[in-house]
Amino acid sequence: MAFTRSVHETLKKYQLVDGFDVVFDMEKSHGVWLHDSVTQEKYLDCFTCFASWPIGYNHPMMTEPEFFNKISKVSINNPANSDLYTREMAEFVEMFATHASPDDFNNHFWVAGGALAIENALKTAFDWKARKLGRKIGDACEDLVIIHLREAFHGRSGYTMSLTNTDPVKTGLFPKFDWPRIHNPCIEYDLDGNVSNDIAASESQSKKDLDAAFSKHGDKVAGIIVEPMQGEGGDNHFRSEFLQMLRDYSDNHDCLLIFDEIQTGFWGSGKPWMWQHHGIAPDIAAFGKKTQVCGIYANNRVKEVDNNVFTMSSRINSTWGGNLVDMVRSKRFIEIILQEDLGENILKRGAEFVTGLRAMAKEKGTFTNVRGVGSLSAFTLDTPEARDAMIGRMMENKLLALKSGPRSIRFRMPLIMSKDEVSDALRRVDSSL
Ligand SMILES: Cc1ncc(COP(=O)(O)O)c(C=O)c1O
Repeated sequence: MAFTRSVHETLKKYQLVDGFDVVFDMEKSHGVWLHDSVTQEKYLDCFTCFASWPIGYNHPMMTEPEFFNKISKVSINNPANSDLYTREMAEFVEMFATHASPDDFNNHFWVAGGALAIENALKTAFDWKARKLGRKIGDACEDLVIIHLREAFHGRSGYTMSLTNTDPVKTGLFPKFDWPRIHNPCIEYDLDGNVSNDIAASESQSKKDLDAAFSKHGDKVAGIIVEPMQGEGGDNHFRSEFLQMLRDYSDNHDCLLIFDEIQTGFWGSGKPWMWQHHGIAPDIAAFGKKTQVCGIYANNRVKEVDNNVFTMSSRINSTWGGNLVDMVRSKRFIEIILQEDLGENILKRGAEFVTGLRAMAKEKGTFTNVRGVGSLSAFTLDTPEARDAMIGRMMENKLLALKSGPRSIRFRMPLIMSKDEVSDALRRVDSSL
């Protein structure tokens, strides 16, 4: 117990410690409840390890002896999956490709970390475009660009920092590419769930920016990247009309449409991928977080060029090519999600949560713009200070959630959330107003 109490102090001696003031008890945490080893308090978890833990803690199917034995055995070795193949890897890839990534997306790449998934999506698009322009290995390609949105968050690695533009603290003082950034036409909702801003005008601003980007960069645009819903930038939702516009520009200007589903994907929205709510498909989708193994899936547009990154060795690669323990865990998650119909469950629970929040906002008036689908919901307060204070009170009321954009709070519910747990979360929000 003495060591448990000093976890933060121990870490502080050697690294930055700016996370939650709890010590996660991995044995006692269960379902939607995150247990603190120090205080023995339990928290209702709408943080879910930054939207990365889909099925609650210590799910009974994870602790069944047969599975427990299998994952323990796999964890003893750490194969370089890009070069050394195992039965467990093939089982995972088959399961993911037939039950998670949709039909027509049969080109997969696995890596550890979301930002690296995006890096490789960008590399796929650059390689594709460069070859279309007739370039050869050795030719300069610094003129190729990726169009992206204001308030986008795609990670904090080399290429992705040129796209990420939320809090400048995350990208300032690092060299970046000057790639075209377009207006973000996000929807604002009234408390009946109707669009309350002039969304058509906002989308035409984005169209103007797109036209300007294409007239400046012409056929050097390799891709357009967008989060189907921006998470870090403020839980910003888009209309299908906007995503369709991006699809049309990508087709008409011969560039690849990339969806960043790292925060929204893997049943987070109730469907396997958020783009399926809109019915507008990308050419490449990047995934991470809940999938455990990160990476991309791509349609056959990438095959329009010979020697593309899915056929030529070593163009995109990493030693571990993901991680085998993550693969075994990911396969189990898919089995659990399908067996328990958790996509359907979270669609219903998410709708109840949003309805409850709207009723609360109508009565109390503390927050506005309640929005969300499935496990992903949010609302906005008047000022950053009010938002920060509310998050603090929620923590006191043992409800974990996250900041989003300058003034919003986002909830990332476990997919197993029950009706009673939604009511419990609403009560805790209410007591935190
Ligand atoms: C939409 C989106 N893209 C990319 C990333 C980067 O993922 P990672 O933190 O695993 O590198 C995140 C992480 O929050 C994200 O939300």
